Amino acid sequence: MSSPLRKPFIAGNWKMHLTLAESLALAKEVAAGCAEGGPDVALCVPFTAVAAVAEALKGRPILVGGQDLHWEPQGAFTGEVAGRQLADAGCRVAIIGHSERRRCFGETDETVNKKIKAALGADLIPIVCVGETLDEREQQKTYRVLETQIRGAFMNFAPDELARVIIAYEPVWAIGTGKTAAPAQAQDAHTFIRKYVARSLQEKLAAGMRILYGGSVKADNVDALMAEPDLDGALVGGESLKAANFLRIIRFKAAAPGIGQAR
Ligand code: 13P
Repeated sequence: MSSPLRKPFIAGNWKMHLTLAESLALAKEVAAGCAEGGPDVALCVPFTAVAAVAEALKGRPILVGGQDLHWEPQGAFTGEVAGRQLADAGCRVAIIGHSERRRCFGETDETVNKKIKAALGADLIPIVCVGETLDEREQQKTYRVLETQIRGAFMNFAPDELARVIIAYEPVWAIGTGKTAAPAQAQDAHTFIRKYVARSLQEKLAAGMRILYGGSVKADNVDALMAEPDLDGALVGGESLKAANFLRIIRFKAAAPGIGQAR
């Protein structure tokens, strides 16, 4: 986290966990420990909990997010949720293209592209997930995969339209496995992504774009990850379900004084 252009962003992805009562209890616990002046914080909760959690967090420095959205604003799409419905329920953020959706639900770079448009149209901040599988990494295809996913996601957008977009680099092999990318490995992927955005879209956009790391982020590895200059935050799965651990992640200690959060 080195650039003053990029405020750190820590997001929890609760995935398909927690009842309404459990969601409210966790959101309140996180809010109670979340001080003003820290990084931007978002909780991406199940659709069933969005409205209630947003209501409970009113006036608190925490954004509520959805974990997906449909690309149309409304229509006959049984089971889907539109960006405007998320926004109406209190969401400010939407995760798009998570690898679990790509793998289990047929998400493609084309649908990711349409969903980014829909999210921006509904005034939501898209968190666009990219990342390679273990197989792809072992075959030295990481850069190619990242380039293809980002090119597809940002197809036909002008740089100005993408100013609010956040990218999450989530290597598939690190998600829910306890295997975190080494900080230098993550930094390498983030640098590649930033340079690709600079080359294919615009230098200024790339310099200001927040790139989060996701994949087994924990209290005991967040500091080393956040010390890397191109890691601007984290997208946290399992550890975001435990208030104390998630709060420690929010209070990461960046290595260099004056960068990130002073402690
Ligand atoms: P874990 O933190 O459980 O590895 O999940 C990461 C993730 O998928 C966040 O979107």
